[in-house]
Amino acid sequence: MTLILGIETSCDECSASVIRYQAGSFIEVMGLATFSQTGIHRPYGGVVPEIASRNHLETVNPMIEEALREAEIRDRDIDAIAVTNRPGLAGALLVGVSSAKALAYALKKPLVAVHHLEGHAASIFIKRKLHDSTRTTERSAPATRSDPPLPLLLAIVSGGHTNLYVMKVLPELWPLDFLKRSLIGRSRDDAAGEAFDKTAKTLGFPYPGGVWIDKTAKTGNPNAFSLPRALPQKATYDFSFSGLKTAVALETAKLEKANLLESSLADLCASIQEAIVDALLSKIYLAARQHGCKSLAVVGGVAANSRLRKRLTSEWAAQGFLCEPLFPEREFCTDNAAMVAAAGAFRLIQGNAFRGDDLLTLNAIPNPEV
Ligand code: KG4
Ligand code: ZN
Repeated sequence: MTLILGIETSCDECSASVIRYQAGSFIEVMGLATFSQTGIHRPYGGVVPEIASRNHLETVNPMIEEALREAEIRDRDIDAIAVTNRPGLAGALLVGVSSAKALAYALKKPLVAVHHLEGHAASIFIKRKLHDSTRTTERSAPATRSDPPLPLLLAIVSGGHTNLYVMKVLPELWPLDFLKRSLIGRSRDDAAGEAFDKTAKTLGFPYPGGVWIDKTAKTGNPNAFSLPRALPQKATYDFSFSGLKTAVALETAKLEKANLLESSLADLCASIQEAIVDALLSKIYLAARQHGCKSLAVVGGVAANSRLRKRLTSEWAAQGFLCEPLFPEREFCTDNAAMVAAAGAFRLIQGNAFRGDDLLTLNAIPNPEV
């Protein structure tokens, strides 16, 4: 059994987590503390990098202390520390990386550098610990994992990425460059989360708008407005969402002029959501069929979207796939340190850790090649 402390500060979430890892089992979250800066950035309509890093400086230690406290362990009982060191905002990454280095050096523990997207990929293997008053459940062995059949189509849909990967190996064997090797499609402009956030901003919702569109769409008609789906007929697994953004801006202006925006809001949100979900699903189905994928995992902030989860759950089998689509539990879709610790566990057992003076060489890489 390995205990890992994970630290995530790549963007506007400051998060620390303690997880328990055992080969062949689900990753069990023992403690997780996250401070979301969304309220701080809201007046600016997006993340302000300088404000993000200054805020991480204030919150990173309290988050680490809180995660350890919830896990009921002391820092010296940790087996390794994992930190997101790429990609992300330079100053924001540096706060997490510096804290992780200082802790690992002082405690003489191995340090694992994690790619943020590997963290998202690992999130499907995470389970919350069972809060049981007798505490016996917490101490029992983590639930056995039954791995999805390979190849697995992995869709990372977040605020920064909309990427499709064909994964031919299980997580413990992920080679260092698997993200580069297995990428088959990506967004040519905005990411799916950005499409949600930018169209939501046009409609007057606060940042980040994805969750507001999701909520407001619940009472709307997804076919009320005809909005563009980019690259539908093309033999590509790439996405494009910039046309949708423009179409929504034009439609909103028209409705505002006619004083109909308020009364059409639910319909417009449902139509926007449907356009994004349609675009994601059509490429997911195409890629899964053409690459002979036997399973599917959808991860990242947009994987929390209720319409995407509902449609995939009901349509995937009808598309001829036998295995249920996999989603992370909702709280592990958006950025969190449990996923970083989980990916760190997979790296650690492959021997990809820095130790001793070597760990002082670890750096933040805002724009890695992959
Ligand atoms: O993975 P994440 O926390 O950060 C990045 O790595 O980018 O994803 C954040 C994105 C935001 O664009 C947010 O609007 C979107 O995920 N998001 C949602 C929902 N919850 C979060 N989009 C649609 N529906 C949701 N329920
Ligand atoms: Zn993310």
